[in-house]
Amino acid sequence: MTPTATQTPDTPPPYLSVNNIEVIYDHVILVLKGVSLQVPQGKIVALLGANGAGKSTTLKTISTLLRGERGDVTKGEVQFKGERVDQLTPNELVKRGLSQVMEGRHCFGHLTIEENLLTGAYTRSLSRGELKDALEKVYHYFPRLKTRRSSQAGYTSGGEQQMCAIGRALMAKPSMILLDEPSMGIAPQIVEEIFGIVKDLNHKENVSFLLAEQNTNVALRYADFGYILENGRVVMEGQAQELASNEDVKEFYLGVSSAGRKSFRDMKFYRRRKRWLA
Ligand SMILES: Nc1ncnc2c1ncn2[C@@H]1O[C@H](COP(=O)(O)OP(=O)(O)O)[C@@H](O)[C@H]1O
Ligand SMILES: [Mg+2]
Repeated sequence: MTPTATQTPDTPPPYLSVNNIEVIYDHVILVLKGVSLQVPQGKIVALLGANGAGKSTTLKTISTLLRGERGDVTKGEVQFKGERVDQLTPNELVKRGLSQVMEGRHCFGHLTIEENLLTGAYTRSLSRGELKDALEKVYHYFPRLKTRRSSQAGYTSGGEQQMCAIGRALMAKPSMILLDEPSMGIAPQIVEEIFGIVKDLNHKENVSFLLAEQNTNVALRYADFGYILENGRVVMEGQAQELASNEDVKEFYLGVSSAGRKSFRDMKFYRRRKRWLA
């Protein structure tokens, strides 16, 4: 069924809609095999899956950053705010309100935190006063960045660099952020802090999020809805709470199950089941 066919006058069209995309790297490596997903306005949607499942490829397809990586979208389309956007440049997308925070933080190590944040405003022509206001807003949500504003980003902690990358995206005043593995390599307590701020931005600034995460546990606690990607296909989707209590999700992604610890024999069985699911 196409997304338009399921719409009734009561349900607004999805803010972001990814329809049946197929992606091939280097002309031969088929990585996404028909991925579809939706993000409603004002929601946090988690894109879950193990390393190599295709999460980053999906986000880069949306933000049109794939071209720089010898990736081709061979099928499907992406719509943002009701408009087809897959032929736009990343900059044009940022101007329309869609920003991506890449995996692995991407701050400029030799610039200070504040200089990094200022680079995020490049798509807007702001006066000095407006720039100052934009910075203050970022510092309001990330008080740690304010404390570290004059520090060279390369010498700040992993968590601070992740905050800096999100803050930098905020400087473009996005209505939607694609966030790629914000928890990667960061201490659990700081991960909670970052997700708390994401939730806050979502509530108070109405920023929608599509966040890719291997950390299923934390992502499902903060997201509204989730998709599970395996081997370039969506194998499961649902409300975050439903997914968190689903037996298969618990077994494969949360490392817990009502049946207790599995024997090796059982694990083999479950791996087989997992392959069937995919
Ligand atoms: N630039 C690239 N060229 C070739 N293969 C790639 C490239 N980027 C990713 N891949 C492959 O595509 C698959 C999905 O990768 P990725 O989207 O990064 O997954 P995830 O973000 O879920 O870990 C992996 O098998 C990876 O090796
Ligand atoms: Mg990735």
